[in-house]
Amino acid sequence: MYKSSPDHVAIIMDGNGRWGKKRRLSRSEGHYAGSKQMEKIIDASIELGIKVLTLYAFSSENWSRPSDEVNYLMGLPIRFFNKKLPEFMRRNIQIRISGNTVPLPDKTREVLAKAVSSTENNTGIIVNFAFNYGGRGDIVHAAKTLIEEVRNGKISKDDITEERMQQYLYTGDLPSPNMIIRTGGEKRISNFLLWQSAESELYFSDVFFPDFTGEMLAEAIGQQPVNTYLSG
Ligand code: FPP
Repeated sequence: MYKSSPDHVAIIMDGNGRWGKKRRLSRSEGHYAGSKQMEKIIDASIELGIKVLTLYAFSSENWSRPSDEVNYLMGLPIRFFNKKLPEFMRRNIQIRISGNTVPLPDKTREVLAKAVSSTENNTGIIVNFAFNYGGRGDIVHAAKTLIEEVRNGKISKDDITEERMQQYLYTGDLPSPNMIIRTGGEKRISNFLLWQSAESELYFSDVFFPDFTGEMLAEAIGQQPVNTYLSG
């Protein structure tokens, strides 16, 4: 139980596909419902005073899904940020992306880059989307960057510490998550924030992500629900 809300909560938003199937809908319709619920979880996180919310939106393993589902997941951020960016600006929300954006379709990469650059001076909650993210890939990417810095003479081998390594991860200067929540019933970490989760509390919910409410988030972090945002 936390006295106040944890600074950084990260969520593995699992169960969208099964949510769709249960309703005789497509997996993509499940992802759309997940993206709508994500909006509510962002609202609830603000009300709860969470400072950083990381959302696992597309894993580096998700490329192996059927191409129509991958295409749908690549299109979702375009739809989402085209609609939500003005509101995020108004509400002082900062957007970050953790992951390798290089292989993404141009339009998706551009929309994500625009969301990050437009909101970089916002000082409210940081919503960090893990997109084309994998924990092992994150560590390899950081190691390669460090090697380059040593090669270029910017740092020496002895400058490589845990703190510096952490800075070079996709999550950069963000604090490590205090809690990782996984919805959808499975009790695995699935290559999410492997380095950053070393000290994180793990919380598993059987609820499919599109049904995971603000109240459930409040319960996970041991807080009272705070207001109307939390219903639904
Ligand atoms: C895992 O559920 C979920 C995903 C692979 C995608 C999660 C994405 C969102 C909730 C929306 C992202 C939106 C934006 C704007 C970035 P699953 O499909 O593996 O569920 P299953 O275990 O039931 O198959």
